[in-house]
Amino acid sequence: MRKKIVAGNWKMNKTFAEGVELAREVNEYLRYKEGGEGVSVILGTPFIHLAKVAHNVTEPAIAVAAQNCATEKSGAYTGEISAEMVASTGAKHVILGHSERRNYYGETSEILVKKVARALENNLGIIFCVGEVLEERESGKHFEVVKAQLTEGLFNLSAEQFAHVVIAYEPVWAIGTGKTATPEQAQEMHAFIRSVVSTQYGQAVADETSILYGGSCNAKNADEIFSQPDVDGGLIGGASLKAADFFEIIKARARH
Ligand code: 13P
Repeated sequence: MRKKIVAGNWKMNKTFAEGVELAREVNEYLRYKEGGEGVSVILGTPFIHLAKVAHNVTEPAIAVAAQNCATEKSGAYTGEISAEMVASTGAKHVILGHSERRNYYGETSEILVKKVARALENNLGIIFCVGEVLEERESGKHFEVVKAQLTEGLFNLSAEQFAHVVIAYEPVWAIGTGKTATPEQAQEMHAFIRSVVSTQYGQAVADETSILYGGSCNAKNADEIFSQPDVDGGLIGGASLKAADFFEIIKARARH
């Protein structure tokens, strides 16, 4: 059975105190309110929050993720944060290949292959993001683009290594725009991603791979997106910044 996952990507939001408070509230919701059972919750915090949040959360369903890690293991790389450092905070995952990193910071597949390797060496689970921009969808290239991102970024891994990967499909045109992929568009791409994984690693591995949808997923639309058979959860940006909204999304995931 593949996991049901709702992951928050806080991006560059929340001061240290605000982030610690948000994590406390999410922890309280899961502890005291009903409806989130069976969902693995991941908090993708900025680096500086990781250690404190990982230390503070007590609910076993909650794990913490970084939003990036360095390509190199250690050394003279001013300003970088290694996968080993991330793991040493108690974080269990790292988000890699987010479109904002690909587009604003020039992250290529070549760079991502190194980051994926560093993460796996440090036993971090990987949330690997893929997704097309609007022109690619409009010109019918979205399947091709997503397949290339998967192939170039991940398919050097063994099946055993790939078991540590969760895929997040985030159509770039739906991120932070309030425009969501329709449930049918999400399902179609998620089924395609699963078929690509199956061709590479076999159906059994594909059936165990969690594929998350990201892109303006919120408390209102989560139910219809999560009702799709190949949508295993969500990677949530804006709506993960309020504990009440985030918990509604967690409950929506639990319902389906
Ligand atoms: P929004 O939910 O704000 O659209 O962001 C999605 C995202 O990029 C999550 O990684």
